[in-house]
Amino acid sequence: MPEKKILYKGLIETWRKYLPVSKKTPVITLFEGNTPLIRALKLEKIISKDIELYLKFEGMNPTGSFKDRGMTLAVSKAKEEGANAVICASTGNTSASAAAYAARAGMQCIVILPAGKIALGKLTQALMHGATVLAIDGNFDEALNIVKEIASKYPVTLVNSINPYRIEGQKTGAFEICGQFTPDYHAIPVGNAGNITAYWKGYKEFKSAGRIKNLPVMLGFQAEGAAPIVRGYPVEKPETLATAIRIGNPASWKQAEAARDESKGLIDMVSDEEIVNAYKLAAALEGVYCEPGSAASLAGVIKLAKQKYFSKRAGSKKAKVVCILTGHGLKDPDRAIKVSPPLVTVIPVLKEIMKHLKFTGAQK
Ligand SMILES: Cc1ncc(COP(=O)(O)O)c(C=O)c1O
Repeated sequence: MPEKKILYKGLIETWRKYLPVSKKTPVITLFEGNTPLIRALKLEKIISKDIELYLKFEGMNPTGSFKDRGMTLAVSKAKEEGANAVICASTGNTSASAAAYAARAGMQCIVILPAGKIALGKLTQALMHGATVLAIDGNFDEALNIVKEIASKYPVTLVNSINPYRIEGQKTGAFEICGQFTPDYHAIPVGNAGNITAYWKGYKEFKSAGRIKNLPVMLGFQAEGAAPIVRGYPVEKPETLATAIRIGNPASWKQAEAARDESKGLIDMVSDEEIVNAYKLAAALEGVYCEPGSAASLAGVIKLAKQKYFSKRAGSKKAKVVCILTGHGLKDPDRAIKVSPPLVTVIPVLKEIMKHLKFTGAQK
C-alpha cells in the first residue's frame, strides 16, 4: 500500500480554529506558510556557545516573503466582504504579495511605491501579477498616508499591516515554530512593526490555549538609519540599504513596544555593515539566501552575542534562538552583486581556469 499522502492546505485551513474565518469565507490561498526552521550549526560556532540558533526561512513562501501569511487572510476577507480592489503602500514585498493574491482572487490591486527604492525582484512581481503600480516622489511613510486616504474615500480595501487580518495571518508563524519547540528568544527585523506585533500575538494566543508553557523574549531590530523606535522619535528621512525596513514612522509602533516590554525583550538597531555581514554569512555558511532587510534579525543576534547578552542570561541548557528571515535574497539581486567579488572572465583553457579556482586538492 502506498503511504497515505497528507496534503498541506495552506495556513487558513491549517489554523482555521485560531483565525477570524467562517464557512462563508472564500479561501484565497497559494499554500503559504509551513516554512522551514533550519538549525544553523556553523553560525552558532562563530556567534555564541550559549545558543542554539534556528533560521525560520520565510523566503520560502509563495511570493518569497512572510507577507503571504497576512495576505491570504486579508484578501480572503476582502473578497468575503465584496471588495473588487485592494490597495497598499509598499517597500516592495507587500505589493508583490498583494498583487499575487489579488490576481488569484480576480481583484484589482493598486500599489503606491516610493520611487527608486524598491528592490528589482519585488517590482517585477507586482508588475507580472498585473497590479496597477504607481511610484511617488516620496518615502514609504508618505505612500502609506496616501493609500489610507484613498481607502477612506473610495471602495477599495487597504491591505497594509494596519489591516487587522494581516496580523491575524502573520501570527501563524509563531504557531509553526511552537509546533517544534518554544523559543527562548525570538529575533525579528522591524520596519512598520506589523510582524513583531503578529508573532507576539501568536505566542500569547498559544499560551492562552495551553499549547505552550512559556513565552519567548522578543528581540526586534531596526536599521540604524531607520530606527525610530530605538531613538524614540519618527525619522523623517529614513536611510538604509535594507529597503524593506526603510521606515521612519512605523504604523504598529505602540504594539511593537508592547511586545518588547511584555516579553522583557528589546528593540535595538544594527548598522548597514552589520546587516550585510549577516546577509553574507547566512548565505555562505548555511545556504540560506535571505534579503538584506531580513538579515537584520541575524545581525542583531550577532551584535547581542558580542555584548555577551546571551551568556549573561545563560542557564544550564543552551538558549534556543529563532531568527525570522523574512524574505528571499533573490528579491534584491542588485545588492548581492554589489557585495560579491566581481565575476572574472577567462579564456576557455584549463591551465588558465585552474589559476582562478582556489582549488586545494592535489591533481589525481
Ligand atoms: C523582507 C522584510 N523584512 C522585514 C519587514 C518589516 O516587517 P514589518 O513592517 O512588519 O515590521 C518587511 C516589510 O516590508 C520586509 O519586506
